[in-house]
This record gives sequence, C-alpha cells and structure tokens, in this order.
Amino acid sequence: NGLNALAKTQGKLYLGTATDNPELTDTAYTTILDNNMMFGQLTPANSMKWDATEPEPGTFTFTEGDQIADLAQTNGQLLRGHNCVWYNQLPSWVTSTTWNATGLTAAIERHVSTVVGHYKGIPSSSDQLPTQANLPFQSPDAWDVVNEPFNDDGTFRSDVFYDTLGESYITIALNAARAADPNAKLYINDYNIEGTGVKSTAMQNLIQSLKAAGTPIDGVGIESHLIVGEVPTTMQENLEAITALGVEVAITELDIRMTLPETAALLEQQKSDYQTVISTCMAVEKCVGMTLWDFTDKYSWVPSTFSGQGDACPWDENLVRKPAYDGIVAGL
Ligand code: XIL
Repeated sequence: NGLNALAKTQGKLYLGTATDNPELTDTAYTTILDNNMMFGQLTPANSMKWDATEPEPGTFTFTEGDQIADLAQTNGQLLRGHNCVWYNQLPSWVTSTTWNATGLTAAIERHVSTVVGHYKGIPSSSDQLPTQANLPFQSPDAWDVVNEPFNDDGTFRSDVFYDTLGESYITIALNAARAADPNAKLYINDYNIEGTGVKSTAMQNLIQSLKAAGTPIDGVGIESHLIVGEVPTTMQENLEAITALGVEVAITELDIRMTLPETAALLEQQKSDYQTVISTCMAVEKCVGMTLWDFTDKYSWVPSTFSGQGDACPWDENLVRKPAYDGIVAGL
C-alpha cells in the first residue's frame, strides 16, 4: 500500500510529488519515487519552465522535461505540466527585451503552443493509463498555464507580461494552451490562496471574469507552501468557494516548513498540519488531487529559499518517514 493507493481508494485522482532531474541518479530516492502505489503523479520542479524549455528565442530544449515525462510513463504515473508563463525563471531574452504588445503576444503564443504542443498526447487519466503506453512519454493531464499572477494584496504582479499586456496575457496564454492540447486541464496556480482573504478573492474574481469572457480555464492550483502551526482554518470554506465558480482545484505544491532546529513538538504539529491539509482536499469534492513539493527534506527547496527554515517534507533527509507521513495517511 502507499499514499496514492489510499488517495485513489478514497476517490481522488492522485497523490503525487514534484521531482527534479538531478535527483534521479539517487537510487535510494528513486526507489521511493518509482512506485505508483506511493506516488501516482509527478510534477517537474524545474525542467518544463521557460528558462529550461526556450533558453533562446524560438530554440526549444525538451531533453530534461522529456526525462520526467518518460519516467512518469514508465512508472504509470500522471504528469502535471509546470509551467508556461511565470515571472520567475525566465531566460534573459524575455526579461531584457523592450517589448511591445504585438511582439510579446507572439512570444507567449509561440512558447505556450510549442511547449504544450510538444507534450500533447491522448486524453490522460488514471483509468486510461494502458493506452498511454503507445506514446513515447506521459502527457500532462493538467498544465499550470499561468503561475503566480498575484501579489499578496490581491493586485496583479508587476512583471514583463502584466506591464506590457495587462490582464490580457492570461487570456492569451490560456487560449494558446487550449489550442495546443484540448485534452489538458488548464490551471492558474498561486500561493497564499489556501485560506480566505484578499488574494483568494482576487483569484476568484479573475476566474469569474475569465469564465464570463469564455476563456478556457479548468482549475486553480493551490500551492500550499505552508508553515507549521499556521494552516489557515478557512481552507475548506475557501476551496468550496473556488470550486463553486465551476472550476476544480488541486493541492499542487504542498510542504509545511518549520523554523529550525526541529523539535519533537514541531514534528507532531507538522503531522497534524499535514493531516489537516490532506483531509481538507479529501472533504472538497472538486479537489482532484494532491502533490507534495518533493517528498524528502534531502531535496526540498525550502532551506535555500526561506532562511532558517526547513524540514518541510514527510520524509527526512535520510529518506526516513517522519510523523508527517502518518499525518498524511490519517488525512486520506
Ligand atoms: C522552485 C523549485 O522547487 C526550485 O528548485 C527552484 O530553484 C525555484 O522554484 N512556486 C512554484 C515552483 O510554482 O515552481 C517553485 O519551484 C516553488 C514556488
């Protein structure tokens, strides 16, 4: 048995994990990763981002993304495409060009249609996995088409896309993704929208306006980079409010970090927090699945990003399960 097997028994599509190419040579790590009873879905943590896939204008490199997509297929796991349009991890040719609206629209359309088109396949869902064996790789069943469009105060983030095109860059990207792969669920993904508040309200307003305009949008990714002891108490109410708009949600990047050093009390609180987040998705009918932002502290992005914080994952840096693992099981 394993986490994904439990999640599927309880009616969800998957419980999965992010992974990254450099980690795949670590056999102690891949022994846990390459098991679809444990993880039914993979998200590439870096190798499908814009800097990795289109480092020079019009020159595309899919080698590393393909490695993850191949692995998902070999393992019988779903795949999440991550991501198309984001202010971060852009190649310098995107950030250093002085764009006009026409030029940037063309650049977004070329990027999204080429990347999403490259990974396009046949409809991919857990019950259709056998037919995927005919393809060279697993096709994403969902794409994070737009990543992190909002500031924490609910205003749109100022970046090359918004500053040149306003909100229309979101529509441009979603339309290009739909045209490139009509079978993929198209998501907007963000953090600090786990509970109710101005940022979640802004996301809901965006979803409503996209739907009113007939723009393709299928889901909202709830990143869930959380802090031990600070899981929002309004998470279920918030997810219900989002899905009431006619989109699905997924927990896309779950980790729950603590201020180091780790203590037994913090590990117990972390266990309880994982249980809360997982059980919240389980309780929301249109919360379709859950993805850990990697499963081990050995490869977590947290310590290098949040100074003094870490130990955010359910497996420790020696690949031993922590109390958080049992918290996930309890939440499923
Ligand atoms: C992170 C990766 O995990 C790191 O390896 C990389 O250095 C920076 O990006 N939100 C997202 C993810 O949508 O793409 C980010 O991933 C974490 C925050």
